Amino acid sequence: MTEPTTGTATGTETDTETLRERALGSLVTARDRTTLLTSCVEDPDLTAQHSPLMSPLVWDLAHIGNQEEQWLLRAVAGRDAMRPEIDGLYDAFEHPRAERPSLPLLPPAEARAYASEVRGRVLDVLESTAFHGTRLTEAGFAFGMVAQHEQQHDETMLITHQLRTGPRALTAPDPDPVPLFTGPAEVLVPGGPFTMGTSTEPWALDNERPAHRREVPPFRIDTTPVTNAAYQAFIEDGGYDDPRWWTAAGWAHIRGHSVTAPLFWRRDGGQWLRRRFGVTEVVPPDEPVLHVCWYEADAYARWAGRRLPTEAEWEKAARHDPARDRSTRYPWGDADPGPQHANLGQRHLRPAPAGSYPEGQSPLGVRQLIGDVWEWTASDFLPYPGFRAFPYKEYSEVFFGPEYKVLRGGSFAVDAVACRGTFRNWDYPIRRQIFAGFRTARSEGA
Ligand code: AVJ
Ligand code: FE
Repeated sequence: MTEPTTGTATGTETDTETLRERALGSLVTARDRTTLLTSCVEDPDLTAQHSPLMSPLVWDLAHIGNQEEQWLLRAVAGRDAMRPEIDGLYDAFEHPRAERPSLPLLPPAEARAYASEVRGRVLDVLESTAFHGTRLTEAGFAFGMVAQHEQQHDETMLITHQLRTGPRALTAPDPDPVPLFTGPAEVLVPGGPFTMGTSTEPWALDNERPAHRREVPPFRIDTTPVTNAAYQAFIEDGGYDDPRWWTAAGWAHIRGHSVTAPLFWRRDGGQWLRRRFGVTEVVPPDEPVLHVCWYEADAYARWAGRRLPTEAEWEKAARHDPARDRSTRYPWGDADPGPQHANLGQRHLRPAPAGSYPEGQSPLGVRQLIGDVWEWTASDFLPYPGFRAFPYKEYSEVFFGPEYKVLRGGSFAVDAVACRGTFRNWDYPIRRQIFAGFRTARSEGA
């Protein structure tokens, strides 16, 4: 399959040591972020439930430690459970989010102590584990999986911070300003097959595998994500009052729940304001729109005479290098993401203006596919041909089906370890608290 095999290939001793250092670095980076997100507010804000959609922050904290214990201390190192009595509390399937605040959760100090006790033991295990031999330890997969898991919960905790009302607890510098993007509005992606998914990326999760060929007819895709200014034009044009743009389910949903603008927006006289991490500000026109659900993205696209890209179209736009007929790890090539490529890792607490990161563009010139905002696609979350659940069915398999839509590309709140051209996220089409926006597409000739 036409996929990169260099850079992160395994087998030699040097590669193993590079991967071990990468595992250590990823675990440390994740824990620094978890610590920031759970120490920037007082204990009552850690145990409170800020939204029925979210866990108390203290649940995420101990759940991070508990998953790390289960996979790295028990599954990899064969150790006994440290506190078997708490496993059930932190099993996401046993207790839906709404019910988590009423559980006898570890209080903040105990949750912190538990997670750091686990981590101390994990660092010893990391030193002594061979990075080959079993599927779980091959290329340090389990360590990479656990670092990605922690980073995914860090994004979840950042969503909780955004939902929380009260004074600002987090700050970060804004992305660099860029001149208003004046390049072509859309890019033609020629038709033909490309390699979707991966069989070589060592820490890719089960749902990204295996690599397979996909035929994708020619299409045009927006050069940048849809901006707040463009989305406001849809609102001002009465988009939320016109059933022509909405699917039946979408129309029923927005009418039943009085959805009239992105989440966190409110109209103030002639302008739109939004609340962002405890601060109210004028909605910036040239920033990608954020906090819209799939139904809103789909309706906007129809209003614009376009549609959402399919997941295969999105990945082809992001990974296909037409000159070499090869799929790269990222739009810019196979190099790991740097700050010049994409807005990732909570370096900023907002997306960068549309047209940012020219160094991160795809060979055809599509920008900001990675980072900034998760992008809704038209596609349901389904397994690739040849999918095998690994290491547990509850990561992906139990979610496959038409009730979830796929999101691609990652947001400003996603760390590089949990972001690739192949990475797949999914959520219900009504969800708006996630850091999601979209771009649109159209079939060539349409
Ligand atoms: C892939 C973001 C949908 O948060 O439910 C965290 C990631 N899986 N713990 C989620 C995940 C197990 C998952 N998403
Ligand atoms: Fe989890």
